[in-house]
Amino acid sequence: MKHNVTVNTDQQEAVISRHIYGHFAEHLGRCIYEGLWVGEDSSIPNTNGIRTDVLKALQNINIPVLRWPGGCFADEYHWKDGIGPREERKRMVNTHWGGVVENNHFGTHEFLMLCEMLGTEPYICGNVGSGSVQEMSEWVEYMTFDGESPMADRRRENGRRDPWNVTYFGVGNESWGCGGHMRPEFYADLYRQYQTYVREYDGNRLYKIAGGANVDDYRWTEVLMREAAPFMDGLSLHYYTIPGDFWKGKGSALDFDKAEWDITMERALHMDTLISRHRAIMDSYDPEEKVGLIVDEWGTWFDVEPGTNPGFLYQQNTIRDAVVAGVTLNIFNRHAGRVHMANIAQMVNVLQAMVHTEEEKMFLTPTYHVFHMYQVHQDAALLPLHLDSDMSGENRAYPQVHGSASKQDDGTVHVSLCNLDMEEDADVTLDMRGLPDEVTWNGTILTAEHKHDHNTFEDPERVQPEAFQDYKADGGAAELRLPPMSVVVLDIS
Ligand code: AHR
Repeated sequence: MKHNVTVNTDQQEAVISRHIYGHFAEHLGRCIYEGLWVGEDSSIPNTNGIRTDVLKALQNINIPVLRWPGGCFADEYHWKDGIGPREERKRMVNTHWGGVVENNHFGTHEFLMLCEMLGTEPYICGNVGSGSVQEMSEWVEYMTFDGESPMADRRRENGRRDPWNVTYFGVGNESWGCGGHMRPEFYADLYRQYQTYVREYDGNRLYKIAGGANVDDYRWTEVLMREAAPFMDGLSLHYYTIPGDFWKGKGSALDFDKAEWDITMERALHMDTLISRHRAIMDSYDPEEKVGLIVDEWGTWFDVEPGTNPGFLYQQNTIRDAVVAGVTLNIFNRHAGRVHMANIAQMVNVLQAMVHTEEEKMFLTPTYHVFHMYQVHQDAALLPLHLDSDMSGENRAYPQVHGSASKQDDGTVHVSLCNLDMEEDADVTLDMRGLPDEVTWNGTILTAEHKHDHNTFEDPERVQPEAFQDYKADGGAAELRLPPMSVVVLDIS
């Protein structure tokens, strides 16, 4: 099938915030413990307790921001349990996720150390559901105050002299659900109260994020914007791509047919509708786009792998996940004016992870490779991309080709294109309007032979990027053939 894509390289839109390429790590399953933190005495090679293999892999994808400690866990987390000598820290039950013991060995110091090692900005989510205003306020004082105060003194006693530079602070998580089952009117008032005491010490500018809507709860966004917009920098949105039904069976990560592939693509694209509609409400209260839409949980959510703890949310990651990641990141890029940050769930071993581990072994997922390829869009200027694509899927319900484009300061243009179809090639005519005649084209592709292809400890490189060569370019125009189930990034300079 034939598809036309036109990019206006001489018109620039909003800057694509690098924070759109953010991540999320929760105290859930084997994400923090085993996936990131093994402790200094572990036989697994580690750097200050963080496993070195995972650290190095994550350093290579340029992670701009990391959200922690949850998720649902955040509204049960009491930060003071996670500071001081590790052996003396309180052991608690992780009631949300598997009922396992949480020994609090990974706390504030360990998280902020990890951020420093990754060169990433921290995004801390505070406890509104079961915590107090004082507890939240003191956490910020502990992390960011440089002078003499009870919390800053305690931080020094625990070995950290200088305050950290904490940039993003979330006031509660999913307050409509696991964060307290609140009504938006009630949460809007609580948000206003809690955020008052989230102080900005010593020039540490905090970007404050209010807990936002579940999927298409547009009323939540309306009430929050109406009642609390002047007090927030960002408002969140959570949406997961689930081919089945959340409660009755989400679908298998590995064992799926064409119908499930198609519904997955349709539901991934639904992110565009959700953002457009939440954005329209935000526009009416905030036409200057000062408040960012923060999609701080997104990704695929399937049934857990057979035989694994249902509370650990461990799922495999195939080429289907990679296409969902490519499409979703394209959508965020294209909404860059309003979407200031997004955080895929989650970083290691949980949901749509970058990396899977088992004891001392590790492999990178197809989704990791998409993040690696797409990092070229970070902080680049969004370019208008016009897409005239044939439709695919059962009932021709979704466009076969999807894309976004950006330009870096040095003039290099990047176009990311996905072929969402499971079976058909896509022949694309790409017109890069406004480019000089003499340009060089390069490309990278991630694809697979079979729809179930994925990486494993035994076969860690089954799905991995390669040079893309199936195109003919002439100046600013090219004819490309995208194989089924593929993600391509072109570099034109
Ligand atoms: O990412 C898993 C869970 O999904 C998070 O803890 C929660 O916020 C959401 O419902």
